[in-house]
Amino acid sequence: MSDDSSTAGSGNFGPSEAAIKAAADVSRETRETINERSEDTPIARAAAIAVAVASGKVGTPLPHPSQTRVITVANQKGGVGKTTTTVNLAAGLALQGLRVLVIDLDPQGNASTALGMPHHDDVDSIYEVLLEDMKLADAVQEIELIPGLYGVPATLDLAGAELELVSLVARENRLKRAISAYLDQSSDRFDFVFIDCPPSLGLLTVNALVAADEVLIPIQCEYYALEGLGQLVRNVDLIRAHLNPNIYISTILLTMYDARTRLAAQVAQEVRNYFGDRVLPTAIPRSVRVSEAPSFQQTVLTYDPGSTGAQSYLQAAREMAETP
Ligand SMILES: Nc1ncnc2c1ncn2[C@@H]1O[C@H](COP(=O)(O)OP(=O)(O)OP(=O)(O)O)[C@@H](O)[C@H]1O
Ligand SMILES: [Mg+2]
Repeated sequence: MSDDSSTAGSGNFGPSEAAIKAAADVSRETRETINERSEDTPIARAAAIAVAVASGKVGTPLPHPSQTRVITVANQKGGVGKTTTTVNLAAGLALQGLRVLVIDLDPQGNASTALGMPHHDDVDSIYEVLLEDMKLADAVQEIELIPGLYGVPATLDLAGAELELVSLVARENRLKRAISAYLDQSSDRFDFVFIDCPPSLGLLTVNALVAADEVLIPIQCEYYALEGLGQLVRNVDLIRAHLNPNIYISTILLTMYDARTRLAAQVAQEVRNYFGDRVLPTAIPRSVRVSEAPSFQQTVLTYDPGSTGAQSYLQAAREMAETP
């Protein structure tokens, strides 16, 4: 079963076949979403989600937005859950019926790893798109295991891009141009595009803020969480004033929430006081499963679909899609 407190390598415990079958029957008989089955036991609920994820479809399909939502996931603070949030929200939206593209804009290539995208030196990546005018379409990969999910990888080459971009014409607009051209020529419409940023406010992040309509800020529920947020908010204001009139902070997601500590609750309250209803109701709990998944080149949604981390990301994805 999905035990978040268990350690690496113990992923073979699973619900019994009977439990899975019972849960599958339950999920077939109803069209209710994963949240509405409050009478389910946690085990049946986790098993039902596992079965649904294996079939590539979870719950009732989410509504399609009226136009593609391009979302930059940014926070110049390192390790707050930007990449984890990008890949798991994207997977959660795709598994709930939407068509989603993830662009890895971080030279660390963590989103590429977590989505199982090859990203060695020879792979066509976001570097070639930004610096060598390659079409985005030529760098897009289909994500195995998750129908409807696509990605553009980042290779180590991207580490030089901050400097190389400086001398290029329209250096802040290159990602926007590439994404717009791709979305215009795609025959199937994307519902969401996520851009995973590095932990800095350099030219790569500026490109992401110019290319997007929305900013999603993951905030880790710990003591220094709010430090530096003012600078990010000011940067978004500057980009809006000078480079992209559409950009705004649409979504805050609380990550690595530890319900046992008073500090986490205090930070969450402070964030909710400041950002109001832009903060998603669901907070992502700290979960061993979430942190293990990337080492299996997977999102937590396929790695351990019944875990609390997976269920939270599915729920957060639903909340995002239902708040246009
Ligand atoms: N809910 C969670 N529970 C447990 N571990 C988590 C959770 N979310 C993220 N982590 C872990 O925290 C670390 C940082 O997360 P992540 O890489 O997503 O942050 P980031 O903001 O993208 O970092 P960077 O600034 O380096 O790009 C990773 O090891 C990740 O596995
Ligand atoms: Mg990251």
